Amino acid sequence: MVRTPLTGGNWKMYKNPARTTSFFETFRPLVEHSGNCEIVICPSFLNLAAAVAATRGTSIQIGAQNLHWAKEGAFTGEVSGAMINAAGCSHVIVGHSERREYFGETNQSVLNKTVAALEAGLIPIVCVGERERKNAEAVLTEQFRCSLGALEEGQFRRIVIAYEPVWAIGTGDTATPENAANAHRFIRSLTNGRFGAAAAANVRILYGGSVKPENAKGLKAQPEIDGFLVGGASLDPVSFASIVNA
Ligand code: PGA
Repeated sequence: MVRTPLTGGNWKMYKNPARTTSFFETFRPLVEHSGNCEIVICPSFLNLAAAVAATRGTSIQIGAQNLHWAKEGAFTGEVSGAMINAAGCSHVIVGHSERREYFGETNQSVLNKTVAALEAGLIPIVCVGERERKNAEAVLTEQFRCSLGALEEGQFRRIVIAYEPVWAIGTGDTATPENAANAHRFIRSLTNGRFGAAAAANVRILYGGSVKPENAKGLKAQPEIDGFLVGGASLDPVSFASIVNA
């Protein structure tokens, strides 16, 4: 069994359409030969059209950073999975810690959004991770039980998990490759307990939290780590390409 690595860029609330287009002008040739790694860039909603246009005909995929769990309805300011799909996206980030912290997302809303993403034909990149440098296993167990573990097996098979310890996000304080691998192994053991050995062997688990060109190689050397979800370092085409190619 071989898990195809995936490197995702989470652009958060940065860039405009013109900067999105110019990012890809530089980025495209730098990853032309990055054959065995999927690349998914997640700009803000308003930059999706520019990103989709700039990557047409390449293997670079585009995702959104959030979605609403309803198919449509009176939800002012929200965006549905079907709209994201129609915009040309293949992926969507669900349950990022900034959404949990600032926008009240819970394990229940993460579950609802994950199901909605799948129903809209999108691949959800579901984020989990402990807030402080302690009790990681207790937090991961609870997050798994209430969201990922509540999926049906067929649904679980289509998701990507991103392990992002909150203390490592945007802080420059990345997890050591060994610590990250331990957390990934733990998530895989939870998967095994709930969905069995094949699901545990197949699910891709990305690491996120201050991934930079300097630390990407060491993290990638861990067989448990199937790629990255990169914030700050994904905004610059040269540094993101060097993470993809690490
Ligand atoms: P960072 O963000 O790489 O800037 O730490 C990661 C994330 O929030 O997904």
